[in-house]
Amino acid sequence: MKLYIDSANVEKITRINEYYPLAGVTTNPTILATEGRPYLETLKNIRSIIGMDKELFVQVLGDKAEEMVDEGKYIVDAISGKVVVKVPVTEEGLKAIRMLSAENIPVLATTIYTGMQALLAAMSGAKYVAPYVNRIDNLPGDGLRVVSNIVHMFLQYDLGCEVLAASFKNVQQVYDAALAGAQAVTVSPDIIEKFVAFPSTKVDVSEFRQKWTAAFGKDHSNLG
Ligand code: G3P
Repeated sequence: MKLYIDSANVEKITRINEYYPLAGVTTNPTILATEGRPYLETLKNIRSIIGMDKELFVQVLGDKAEEMVDEGKYIVDAISGKVVVKVPVTEEGLKAIRMLSAENIPVLATTIYTGMQALLAAMSGAKYVAPYVNRIDNLPGDGLRVVSNIVHMFLQYDLGCEVLAASFKNVQQVYDAALAGAQAVTVSPDIIEKFVAFPSTKVDVSEFRQKWTAAFGKDHSNLG
């Protein structure tokens, strides 16, 4: 399982990267626009925070496949390290996925609502597919069922494409995606911070500290 942070906020990425086992950072046009700064500057700042080896995902905006391919190549050239180009799964997107993959540029097929979209993206050469769990739930549909069906199909056809589930609004959805076998998830910082913010753990830790201090004083370095 790989964990990505879905954000372009450098302060939040810095903090989450310090504490959590991040595989990289995913962005989308809305996330980058929200920061209100030039997007290339933001992406380069993110790169300097996460280092060269972690993946950084950037989405294209073009209508036509050729435009998406040009944008993808521009992004890969402009940002150092491991960059993955995000392409929405439309007809033009499928064509762009094939063209970019043929040039060994890694692609994440995004805005996925159905197993069929994921299957076609994988057949077109995508390295990752991103089903939008919470947005599917709101249709209303069953986001987790879509994730689980895609995982099952990819295994059955040995497609070598990973499921990077996205669009989560709570911790349970993320956990369910992990249980469904998604190889990766991308999660907003506020939800990542809830992963271990469990009241009982805090109570236990505080009780352990009280007992220790009562017996040995405050010096925790004196463990012998
Ligand atoms: O990055 C794309 C995806 O995560 C969208 O999430 O929360 O806007 O539905 P959300």
